[in-house]
Amino acid sequence: MRIVTLALAACLALPAAAQDAGEGRELFQTYCTACHGIGGRGDGRMAPILTVLPPDLTGLAARNGGDFPVFAVARQIDGRDPMLAHGGDMPIFGRWFEGEATVAMQAPSGQPILLSRPIADVIAYLEGIQE
Ligand code: HEC
Repeated sequence: MRIVTLALAACLALPAAAQDAGEGRELFQTYCTACHGIGGRGDGRMAPILTVLPPDLTGLAARNGGDFPVFAVARQIDGRDPMLAHGGDMPIFGRWFEGEATVAMQAPSGQPILLSRPIADVIAYLEGIQE
């Protein structure tokens, strides 16, 4: 346990591990806007043909008592929490967003989480559009 804590502390201290919301915005425009819309409000051009409407991603924190749900969102993007709209047990995004988990982020509980860079970047972008 002590070794794990030390390893995580070392990762948190890595300067190269910063997230890049600009990069995340690019990824979001490429992979997410078709359904979630350019501003993430759920008004993408595919929304009218979906039976389950894409949620407004600017309200993720508000719907979670004001805390951005980092861990839940990461799992929804990489497919560990299977959602039919994201491919269910054949996750659409897992492949583009996989990679070594090198970026450390903190869950609202304070628990550190290691994520691949693309996922961390998309999350940084999403955190920035919360209302
Ligand atoms: C094919 C359309 C589609 C695409 C493309 C898509 N989503 Fe979604 N997304 C949805 C739908 C529909 C839901 C709601 C699913 C449900 O409630 O079962 C959803 C749910 C979510 C949720 C959960 C929101 C909540 O309130 O719990 C997140 C986070 C999310 N999407 C992020 C993304 C990101 C990031 C991308 C791009 C990597 C993306 N989505 C691409 C359709 C899509």
